[in-house]
Amino acid sequence: MFGYETEELAGTEIRLILPDLGAKLSALHLRTNNRIHSCKEAIGRRSNGEAFPVELNLAQTTHQGSPIFVGSARDLSEKYRAEARLKRLQVDRLAAMGGIAAGLAHELNQPLSATKTYLKVIERLVEHPNKAHPVRIEDALARASEQVERAGRIISSLRGLAAQGEPNMLIQSLHRLIEQICEGFAGTFADLRVVAILELGASNDTVLVDGVQIQQVLSNLMKNAIEAMTKTQFRRLTISTSVRDGDIQVDVADSGTGIPDDIKGQLFEPLPSTKDGGMGVGLPMSRVIVEAHEGRIWARDNIERGAVLSFTLPLMEGISSLMETRSQKLGR
Ligand SMILES: Nc1ncnc2c1ncn2[C@@H]1O[C@H](COP(=O)(O)OP(=O)(O)OP(=O)(O)O)[C@@H](O)[C@H]1O
Ligand SMILES: [Mg+2]
Repeated sequence: MFGYETEELAGTEIRLILPDLGAKLSALHLRTNNRIHSCKEAIGRRSNGEAFPVELNLAQTTHQGSPIFVGSARDLSEKYRAEARLKRLQVDRLAAMGGIAAGLAHELNQPLSATKTYLKVIERLVEHPNKAHPVRIEDALARASEQVERAGRIISSLRGLAAQGEPNMLIQSLHRLIEQICEGFAGTFADLRVVAILELGASNDTVLVDGVQIQQVLSNLMKNAIEAMTKTQFRRLTISTSVRDGDIQVDVADSGTGIPDDIKGQLFEPLPSTKDGGMGVGLPMSRVIVEAHEGRIWARDNIERGAVLSFTLPLMEGISSLMETRSQKLGR
């Protein structure tokens, strides 16, 4: 318990593990006038001297005529860590989303000024209908309307960012999240003749995440991989998992055209897309989400051809072993 062996604790002064117990007891004693039955937060000390928060449940009773205290102490460290992580997730995400939103707002200038130029051309064509012009009015109108549509898509991306409400952190299986998202892509795989392979080899996949956000990351990476393979004959998408230093790593590998050299260094920055109709926000948004979950995201060239996009998430090791013990106890 708390790093001590049972033999070490038996018969030991309780203040060894709860140094401020005396102060807590007298506070409770005064307030409850001898009838102590309460729950209080205190400081615990592990065998290595490390201090940690504990929840104390104490009750006073009598044993063979003498008053005794019966109590339990629960380690609150994991609860505090999860709360702190949740708070950071909200703050980091807001800050980074702000950066992406600023990039998108800047992007909006481009279709708006292009639309303005096309409208000017149309104005001149209408004013001088009989003059010889290099552009036809129908073409200028079509171009202007394409630009307005692009502006509309940028605005809906901004709206999408704003609509991502409070994170909903749950302990769940990452493999299940991957399988679910692949089920959603099954139609696209069939239409585009993409061979999708799942190699979910990680021995532990229990994570504390907002499932919707992590599926958004997976979907962005898979969409990019599929888009990079539209011009190649051989289309193979492999999603694999492995455990590394307390993290689970997900690799999304494709056999596409590979990441263009000129954007390799800024892949995760909100930049104009290299694709028609792309917004260039898929990877920056994925980075915001992964980093807010205390993970990392990066890209590299695939061995033969294409790209591999990888990200990590911290594993809930303690929690999963607890769950295993519980299942064993329940005979599952
Ligand atoms: N798997 C990949 N293979 C090759 N290039 C990639 C891959 N993933 C990303 N890229 C390159 O990185 C760029 C940025 O990707 P990102 O997902 O951020 O934006 P996008 O796909 O262009 O637009 P959006 O995702 O907003 O629709 C892409 O335009 C593409 O050039
Ligand atoms: Mg994309």
